[in-house]
Amino acid sequence: MQLLVATTNAHKLSEIRSILTGLDVNLVSLSDFPPVIVPDETGDTFVANAREKALHYAAATGQLTLAEDSGLEIDGLNGEPGVHSARFNGDSYSERFKAIYTRLANAERLRCRARFVCALVVVRGSNILFETRGTVEGQVANEPSGAAGFGYDPIFHYPPYGKTLAEVSREEKTAVSHRGKAVRALRNYLATNTALWET
Ligand code: IMP
Repeated sequence: MQLLVATTNAHKLSEIRSILTGLDVNLVSLSDFPPVIVPDETGDTFVANAREKALHYAAATGQLTLAEDSGLEIDGLNGEPGVHSARFNGDSYSERFKAIYTRLANAERLRCRARFVCALVVVRGSNILFETRGTVEGQVANEPSGAAGFGYDPIFHYPPYGKTLAEVSREEKTAVSHRGKAVRALRNYLATNTALWET
C-alpha cells in the first residue's frame, strides 16, 4: 500500500517515516511526483489547512494522501505565529527568533507558554478517511539553543527534558512532539483499519 506524504519538508518526512516504520506501507513524498501546484493554505486553523492540502494533493496525484499542517502558538503573542509559522516575519529563522524575542521582551513575557500543534488528515479521492490533532506544551526558551530538528525547535523549551527540542534526538523529540502524537494516532488507525484503507 502506497501513502503519499504531501510535504517537501525532509525533516517532517523523516519524523513521520520513523513513526510509521514497520507498517506495510510504502511512503512516498511530493518529491517522487512531477511538480504539483501548491495550494494557498487559506484556512485560519491547522485542521482547515491540513484538509485543504490533503484534498488538493489527493486530487492532483490520485494517491492515498496524508497532509499535515503545523506550527507554533505563543501565548504571549496571542497565538502567533500559529498557522503563519512557515511565513512569519522574515525569511530566516534567526530573523523570526529575533522578532519573537523583541516582542516578548517588550512585554516582559520570556519563558511564556507555547505549544506546537499538528493537524493531520488522510484523504482518498474526495473522502477524508482520518483526522487527528496533536499538541506539545512548552515554553519559549530564554535564547535559541541546539542544532537538531528544524524550524522553531531551538526556541521551544520542553520542561520535562530541561532542553529545547533542538537539543534532543529525533527519537526523543517524536516521543513527545505534536507530530509524534498525531502520527502515532494515524499508525494505530492504519494498523486497525486495514480493510478501510486498502479498498
Ligand atoms: P507547514 O509546512 O505549512 O505546515 O508549516 C509548518 C511550519 O511550522 C514549519 O515551517 C515550521 O516553521 C513550524 N513547525 C511545524 N512543526 C515544527 C516542529 O516540529 N519544529 C519546529 N517548527 C515546526
